[in-house]
Amino acid sequence: MRFRSTRPEAAFQPAPAVPETMDAVVLDEPGSAQALRVDRVAVPTPVLSEVLVRVVAAGVNPIDAKTRAGRGMSSAIEAWPAVLGLDVSGVVVRAPFDAHPFPVGTEVYGMVAVPRTPGAYAEYAVVPTLSLARKPVSLSHVEAAGVPVAALTAWGLVVETALAHQGQRILIHAGSGGVGHFAVQFAAYFGAHVIATGSPRNLDWLRELGAAEVVDYTTTRFEDVVDTVDVVIDLIGNVSDDTGTRSLDVLRPGGLLIEVPTGAWPGFREAAAARGIRSTDYKTIPDGGALSTIGRLLDSGAVRVYIERVFGLDEAPEAHAAIERGHTRGKVVLRVSDD
Ligand SMILES: NC(=O)c1ccc[n+]([C@@H]2O[C@H](COP(=O)([O-])OP(=O)(O)OC[C@H]3O[C@@H](n4cnc5c(N)ncnc54)[C@H](OP(=O)(O)O)[C@@H]3O)[C@@H](O)[C@H]2O)c1
Repeated sequence: MRFRSTRPEAAFQPAPAVPETMDAVVLDEPGSAQALRVDRVAVPTPVLSEVLVRVVAAGVNPIDAKTRAGRGMSSAIEAWPAVLGLDVSGVVVRAPFDAHPFPVGTEVYGMVAVPRTPGAYAEYAVVPTLSLARKPVSLSHVEAAGVPVAALTAWGLVVETALAHQGQRILIHAGSGGVGHFAVQFAAYFGAHVIATGSPRNLDWLRELGAAEVVDYTTTRFEDVVDTVDVVIDLIGNVSDDTGTRSLDVLRPGGLLIEVPTGAWPGFREAAAARGIRSTDYKTIPDGGALSTIGRLLDSGAVRVYIERVFGLDEAPEAHAAIERGHTRGKVVLRVSDD
């Protein structure tokens, strides 16, 4: 892991008082978005190398909504009511030791280990040290909270799995969503020829993000206008219009299909292998080192995060409803407290 150098002077900041209870969005059992309600719950206790973060903003992801509805990670939740929310941006209020790389007072962003610990839809969250990075200085907490899951997923897909490089042709389905808008930017940054699918309102924006070609999926079947791509990053799967199966028609022999939505197309391995196409699924890795690198790209202006909507903690049902409609541009974020 690549930490920035520790700052001993910051290690001696007095730790602020932390209350025993906090406001959190709780879920008593799987249900509709309306099942999310604000209540008082115990502030979680960090153990070992975990950090306690005062949450300023929490990102909202499709996996949160799937878990709330009884799919996603729901079966792994051991204690109810549950607190959801993987994406966090906030300030360290308890560090595991004085000379820790993120001492008390450090502005950080990262991924909470939901459902092993309560999530970020709350005033405080415990986060593993290795899942954190310093918040990019050019971003507000609301902007930073939109980054971790989406950007780490895009990084894992584009950089670590597709090995994006100059001359490579990469087709990205849903290039305008949370993961997609980072995937388009990372692939273009590393020199790939990016083709992205989206609806009319997003086509110009996808070009601005770095897509060399865009396909309006509402009017055009992508396989009619795209061929011989090296990699398909499929953020849709077969839940919509057989997007996964049709992707096999545009991949060159030996190309790579990456199926991202878990369970969206159970037979993809066999279907790809029958055509001589490589394939894999994917799971986000909460890598604080990669998040630190992504933060440098954000601070340099080479990459940006787009936040479409910001909701209050008491508006979690509306935030989930927005995500479930499936047409968010960039990210949806809950503002939990003042900066
Ligand atoms: N396996 C993992 O570890 C992992 C990690 C992160 C995400 N995921 C999954 O990956 C998927 C994408 O996540 P996300 O956060 O990027 O979702 P998101 O932000 O909700 O994606 C919304 C975007 O999808 C686009 N879209 C909808 N239908 C489309 C279609 N038929 N063709 C092309 N674009 C379409 C919309 O664009 P328009 O408005 O233009 O339609 C919108 O911009 C989700 O299923 C999520 O659960 C998996």
